[in-house]
Amino acid sequence: MFDPDKYIEKKKDELREIKGRTVVAASGGVDSTVCAFLAHTVVDDLKTVFIDDGLMREGEPEQVSSLFKERGLDITVVNAQNEFFDSLKGITDPEEKRKAFRNTFYTVLGRILKDFKAKYMIQGTIAADIKETKGGIKTQHNVLEQIGIDPATYGMTIVEPLKDIYKHEVRAVGRALGLPEQLWDRIPFPGPGLACRVVGEVTPERTEVVRKATKIVEEELLELKPFQVLAVLLNDKATGMKNGNRIFGNIIAVRCVESKDALTASPTNVPWKKLEKLRDRILDEIPSVIKVVYDITPKPPSTIEYI
Ligand code: XMP
Repeated sequence: MFDPDKYIEKKKDELREIKGRTVVAASGGVDSTVCAFLAHTVVDDLKTVFIDDGLMREGEPEQVSSLFKERGLDITVVNAQNEFFDSLKGITDPEEKRKAFRNTFYTVLGRILKDFKAKYMIQGTIAADIKETKGGIKTQHNVLEQIGIDPATYGMTIVEPLKDIYKHEVRAVGRALGLPEQLWDRIPFPGPGLACRVVGEVTPERTEVVRKATKIVEEELLELKPFQVLAVLLNDKATGMKNGNRIFGNIIAVRCVESKDALTASPTNVPWKKLEKLRDRILDEIPSVIKVVYDITPKPPSTIEYI
């Protein structure tokens, strides 16, 4: 039986061993949030940064920094939106996209560490990230050593306190740390953010479409308490009529799944009325969208995200 209190003490002892300036990268997701608060109490000379990559959900950078600040953890938001979009320009292959994201992420972080004269970087890699990367399913953005990349290339020593536990255990740790439910019970959101949910090229415009759709599906479906709910912008288009005009518009796929550890998942049995409501909202509120589909595929064979 997993004992979060014992786990916290063990991890705190490990983190106390870090001697030197350290940066913890928080994205607002459960894993990095738990990491930041775990490290906060025991690592001296710690700086918490939030990289705004332009691929977050609506209002997320502001929301995360205020939630952290309310709990005494000062967070520095670094705007690197242009750098991320430039690196993703023209890329459509999913693994290439992940590679580009990862490279920019660690390049930006490397710069932050250099400016801060820090050597160590704490990040929230969890067991599932490593397992899936090793299994060749997809390279998670935060996994380096397992795919043969030396973190020293980016000028850092990486510390991963949560790499031996799974999502439900991370949540238990967050709860035991006394964090509010709002922080440890958030639905998972991938490190590469909305880039995982834009099939085809990730541009600021296409990201904006999926950001709006994400807000709507979260507003409509979070109350069902699924493991994860997401909207995806497909790379295909479809024909339809809007306001009396024929358009060849965007297609949004809605995915809502039940899972315990993200290694397997099954589609949520969403009531039809709810699907109709979110369809109407997406069509009404996002002019470029002409078709909304609900994804009924389990994992396996399909992963939760689309890239
Ligand atoms: P998939 O799509 O592989 O996702 O079924 C499993 C879980 O991991 C999340 N995910 C990621 N999280 N970096 C992360 O921090 C990533 O690169 C990444 N890719 C997927 C996904 O949202 C799901 O919860």
